[in-house]
Amino acid sequence: MSDAIHVCSDPEALAQHACEWLVARIGDHLQQSEQPFVLALSGGSTPKRLYQLLGDLTPGTVDWSRVCLVWGDERPVAPDHVDSNFRLVRENLLDHIEIPATNVLPVAGADGDPAQAASDYAQLLNDRLPKVNGLPQLDCALLGLGDDVHTASLFPHSAAISEETRCFVENYVDKLGCWRLSLTAPILNAAGAVVFLIAGEKKRQALQALWFADRNPQLYPAHLIRPRSGHLWTMVDQSAVDGVEFPNDSQVRRIGELN
Ligand code: 6PG
Repeated sequence: MSDAIHVCSDPEALAQHACEWLVARIGDHLQQSEQPFVLALSGGSTPKRLYQLLGDLTPGTVDWSRVCLVWGDERPVAPDHVDSNFRLVRENLLDHIEIPATNVLPVAGADGDPAQAASDYAQLLNDRLPKVNGLPQLDCALLGLGDDVHTASLFPHSAAISEETRCFVENYVDKLGCWRLSLTAPILNAAGAVVFLIAGEKKRQALQALWFADRNPQLYPAHLIRPRSGHLWTMVDQSAVDGVEFPNDSQVRRIGELN
């Protein structure tokens, strides 16, 4: 299911569009609300350019003092490890903007006991974020899509797929042979908006499964993502959708073309 599908010509155009979209979304929110804009960041390689573009914005374009950054998932490594999603954001975004340290909520202890790290982060989200129906409220969650249709660190046949109450959990991933730490479907589906950022021809089959396979979250965890707000964006580059049909119930926009 996808409400809005934005198709960009290539990964750079995708990052530019996502940056413009996010700047506008944050600005609209801050005009209408006293609450900070809570943005959940995704890991992996796709969002790196987006983070760089956000970091390169003219100071003042985004009032980072009113934005709260949380992590959608984290790997079981120290924050300075090359695989760390915190390091990805620090190097490409945090080191380039003025944002109060209290607005940056990384997953502490990710390289330690996974259950403790998950419990501590869930508590932090509950303590720091506004809650709706008992769940910490995200204004926007950025998500990637794995070739196996995982998202965040919700991997096929992993226990976290079935999580119905906790907002952030430890999740053992057999195919990786390690623990991961991840937001869960309940908190993601309670978000004001969810944005999938997907690029590359390798994602074509995963997108087809996301959009057209019979609903099967154990096999295709991204099937779990159905924001109750109804605001789901799937931003892709052309190579990810070459030869791919689009769901009938979505609005497709080709970004950069005269619409
Ligand atoms: C992670 C991510 C993960 C990622 C997908 C897509 O920590 O790896 O959160 O869910 O978004 O695996 O990764 P790419 O953007 O590298 O294709």
